[in-house]
Amino acid sequence: MNAPSSNQRILVGVSGGIAAYKAVVLVRRLIEAGCEVRVVMTEAATRFVAPLTFQAVSGHPVRTTLLDAEAESGMDHIALARWADAVVVAPASADLMARLANGLADDLLTTLCLATDAPVHLAPAMNRQMWAHPATQANHARLIEHGVTLLGPAAGAQACGETGEGRMLEPDAIVDALLANDQQDLAGRHVVVTAAGTREPIDPVRFIANRSSGRMGFALADDAARRGAVVTLVAGPSTLPTPARVERIDVETAQQMQTAVESIGVTDIFVGAAAVADFRLAAPVDHKLKKSGETLSLELVPNPDIIRGVAERSGRPFVIGFAAETDHVREYAAAKRVAKGMDLICANEVGPGKGFDRPDNALLLLWEGGERELAQADKRHLAGEIFDTYHQITQDRDDASS
Ligand code: C5P
Repeated sequence: MNAPSSNQRILVGVSGGIAAYKAVVLVRRLIEAGCEVRVVMTEAATRFVAPLTFQAVSGHPVRTTLLDAEAESGMDHIALARWADAVVVAPASADLMARLANGLADDLLTTLCLATDAPVHLAPAMNRQMWAHPATQANHARLIEHGVTLLGPAAGAQACGETGEGRMLEPDAIVDALLANDQQDLAGRHVVVTAAGTREPIDPVRFIANRSSGRMGFALADDAARRGAVVTLVAGPSTLPTPARVERIDVETAQQMQTAVESIGVTDIFVGAAAVADFRLAAPVDHKLKKSGETLSLELVPNPDIIRGVAERSGRPFVIGFAAETDHVREYAAAKRVAKGMDLICANEVGPGKGFDRPDNALLLLWEGGERELAQADKRHLAGEIFDTYHQITQDRDDASS
């Protein structure tokens, strides 16, 4: 079997137990696989292995306390929780499992496990009696209910001299389990994503804008980067943080967005998730417009259609676009896909409480000869489904041409 590889950011939590020494090997293996690793230890864990050991192996300072003013002024605990693609606590002691099962956040590691939206994995390690105790078993069941993944424990000889269930899984088995579902299926591809709305100036203080938050485009950029793509995100004004490993170009107007997209050149996949203003002022005013008591007319001229421009290029990328419609969603989106030369269009109904400026959405994906409905879900989940559909379409095309 090939050694697993990944570019995931993994937070390794170490709690107090003799198996803490094996966590050093776990960190080393994760780094060898290409992961970026940060280590957080409980107070008890530092009695077994010195934080300096993990610092040397991970290449980063180790965090042990929540209320460390110096550490919090760098990557604070919430930032650290968001940074992680996955959390693995190895070894997970009976005490740590009990605290997590009850939602305690009485040290840095338990706080991070509560604050993260990344998957949390635990590799329990304890004496066989402690593992078999009904309290531990109840905590185990509760943690699974909370969505935590338990890796092991294994059975065998224990540090206490007994034999039974409660040994921590070997580091290689933990790495395999962590990276098993890590798709790097966009490795080697360059993906460009436009996101958020554009702003078209009226005068130096006013502009025409729209309700787009940028969430869908940012989620797509994030997902593509997690799948190993080189990602350029061309973003209109948005307060969303730049996803890790994504190059971001900030723009304001549709014309700036088009210039940025053109400057990037050849890519493999283009995703037009931006809500580009269809019109801009024919002549923005260079001073603040004054009230005159009379009506004001603004002359608008059409903006360039960015996605159409990309689809017309020779050596064009695979083009994914969006259609926000208030009615006749399927019909309008199907026509728009063909008119703009998109390979795949993701259509949704917009209106009060639907589509824009929300964390979730429902989409209808349409392509030549196929369609797929995606039920209401978080935009990060939808992003994954969109790239899965991209793979399905390209695979079907390859099969048809061979
Ligand atoms: O025509 P409509 O604005 O509904 O088309 C939506 C799709 O076209 C989106 O993918 C959007 O990013 C893209 N678009 C564009 N340039 C424009 C207008 C829309 O790239 N000027």
